[in-house]
Amino acid sequence: MNRSFISVIAGGFGVEAGTVSDDTDYGEHREVTAEGVAELLSRARSVVITPGYGMAVAQAQYPVADLTRRLRERGVDVRFGIHPVAGRLPGHMNVLLAEAKVPYDIVLEMDEVNDDLADTDVVLVIGANDTVNPSASEDPTSPIAGMPVIRVWESADVVVFKRSMATGYAGVQNPLFFRENTAMLFGDAKDRVEDIIKAL
Ligand code: TAP
Repeated sequence: MNRSFISVIAGGFGVEAGTVSDDTDYGEHREVTAEGVAELLSRARSVVITPGYGMAVAQAQYPVADLTRRLRERGVDVRFGIHPVAGRLPGHMNVLLAEAKVPYDIVLEMDEVNDDLADTDVVLVIGANDTVNPSASEDPTSPIAGMPVIRVWESADVVVFKRSMATGYAGVQNPLFFRENTAMLFGDAKDRVEDIIKAL
């Protein structure tokens, strides 16, 4: 698929200025609809899902497991990239995904997916924030500088599922949300994943 299809589909829904809580000019963010994400996924050959605390809040693991199954039935290579401190408890994401019967062999650790992301078509960030923040590796002045993160921005397209532009646990803004190959899909993660399944 073409590099950054998001710049094509998200453009159709307009570009809005981001609301941020500090003085830094992060630029603009893009928004995409569930139908747009379904179209993006229908063109994808490889998908990585990076869940975070918001997946637990929304209890989105069940529709996420359903979406995974449907994509794999279509021949898409779907894998999960799990950050060691994603969520609020050790192993939080692994427990939720196991509960929803996502096969263990596609649930990988951060270090097992990071080097493959540059060859990945789409990353779905489901309610994760700090654990996918590029400033941890790129901005030495960031409060989270030096924290290892999942380099989701290296994939062709990134969709971030969350309800707003709000910060995560660490309280720092995330420049990922303003990258050209990122689009925001706002709303409760469970509802949005269900909308994508309906549109597939
Ligand atoms: P966070 O950085 O905490 O971000 C979670 C995001 O989920 C929020 O920005 C929130 O954005 C979104 N969210 C909340 N409810 C949602 C919903 N219903 N639907 C969709 N999105 C929703 O998550 P993370 O990436 O998992 O990082 C974990 C953080 O917790 C790290 O800073 C880590 O150090 C810290 N921590 C981890 C642990 C362990 S052991 N895992 C323990 C203590 C602290 P909106 O409000 O905009 O929706």
